[in-house]
Amino acid sequence: MLFKAGLCSVISLCNIGLHSSAFGHTCNAVRSTLSKCTSANLFSWPCFKPLKDYDSRSIMVSSVTSNPKTDSTSQNSRKKDHWSSNGCQKYSTAVDPGYRGENMEFSEGRSVLLPSGHRMPLVGLGTWQAKDEEVEAAVSEALSAGYRHFDTAFNYGNEYAIGRVFKRWINDKDHLRSDLFVTTKLPVFGNRPGDVEKYLTESLRRLQLDFVDLYLIHMPFALMPNKNGDNFEANEDGSPVLDPSLDHQKLWKALEAQVDAGRAKSIGVSNFNARQVANISAIARHPISCIQVELHAVNQQKDLRRDCAKCCPNIAFTAYSPLGSPAAPQHFQNKYGYSIKQTSAGLLSNPLVVEIASTYKKSPAQILLRHHVQQGIIVIPKSVSPARIQQNHEVFDFCLSEDDMKKLNNLDQGEEGRTFNFLFFKGVENHPEYPFGKN
Ligand SMILES: NC(=O)c1ccc[n+]([C@@H]2O[C@H](COP(=O)([O-])OP(=O)(O)OC[C@H]3O[C@@H](n4cnc5c(N)ncnc54)[C@H](OP(=O)(O)O)[C@@H]3O)[C@@H](O)[C@H]2O)c1
Repeated sequence: MLFKAGLCSVISLCNIGLHSSAFGHTCNAVRSTLSKCTSANLFSWPCFKPLKDYDSRSIMVSSVTSNPKTDSTSQNSRKKDHWSSNGCQKYSTAVDPGYRGENMEFSEGRSVLLPSGHRMPLVGLGTWQAKDEEVEAAVSEALSAGYRHFDTAFNYGNEYAIGRVFKRWINDKDHLRSDLFVTTKLPVFGNRPGDVEKYLTESLRRLQLDFVDLYLIHMPFALMPNKNGDNFEANEDGSPVLDPSLDHQKLWKALEAQVDAGRAKSIGVSNFNARQVANISAIARHPISCIQVELHAVNQQKDLRRDCAKCCPNIAFTAYSPLGSPAAPQHFQNKYGYSIKQTSAGLLSNPLVVEIASTYKKSPAQILLRHHVQQGIIVIPKSVSPARIQQNHEVFDFCLSEDDMKKLNNLDQGEEGRTFNFLFFKGVENHPEYPFGKN
């Protein structure tokens, strides 16, 4: 108990920046203790301290403050100094009410509680466009840097390589499968109830896992599979053959069967609009735990967040392309000959982001990621560079002031900021479940 109280005081001093260089040593040692926190021990002090919403507009996130069990401070006075200006210690999220579930708990800034009852780490490694050799090294690097959450998909074609790293890691006696949080996705050409088990089984085989932590329906529309089932069936002009028979409610029931069978801990959707989310939620036996969508400073999905909260107050949001996906336009051009105007291009060099970064002595990427994490939004930045992998995970040792949060909120351009409209699938806007530009 004494050790915990001591650790707590040290952490508080570190976080408010009251430390000399000698004390900095102690801070680093304490941070290193905290960095050993895993999803397995996340609930035990000092790795995890449950938080409560103190009012509907603000969430106290004391990443490493006092121990609630030993602290005699009353809730009222804690509520008051929650507004203190020392930045990292206590702050509000500066989100408008209604953008997120009021009851959504999130821990000291490292994980969110999903409607399924499982926890999901707030920062994960994205793996889209990472080739086998690159992704193998990147996932190993990320595990060493403290990541436990990995985002992949059948369609990224790199589950084998990622699975090799998981296998080695889990075989190490110091590691547990339960420490990992792995997401994968049902491919767009597998969007039929009868195909769900087949594609999930294949993903599990590639990933060398018995279950995934989160299984997402990758796209709300459906394409016909080719005869090998490993891509979509194409028309003569290369455009995909659409499958208009898609029924989201029936598809969801097939995902629920995978939860019942123990092959997925939680299930969710990706790229869905609010109407589609509500439609599934109306029949869901297992809740929609997470929606993964494009979300970054210029496309903050405020409407979607507000609208989804109506049917699914605790649904977790995962921000894909949180850094603005600077490599996406080139990829669309090379793979589909599709060119796109990208509003989020240059997000990492946006003058406001750069200015805030220099104030906090952080990188622009860390500011962009922290802006979301501070609102309880999960981020999955992709990188294959060791230095960036590490940097993108280091977003828990500072916090943005109310004022800076507001300035970043104001970068939003709504739909104008969207990069991923999937129109590189020629004709996809004619599918009855094409999600954008419709309610
Ligand atoms: N559900 C969906 O439909 C969907 C769609 C898109 C993406 N996703 C998921 O979301 C993940 C992230 O999205 P994304 O890959 O589109 O884009 P992103 O994470 O916004 O950006 C990745 C790009 O930024 C660079 N980068 C990473 N860290 C950086 C840093 N600290 N400073 C400067 N540049 C940095 C990366 O280059 P280096 O690798 O060279 O560092 C890469 O080119 C994907 O990998 C995937 O897992 C899902």
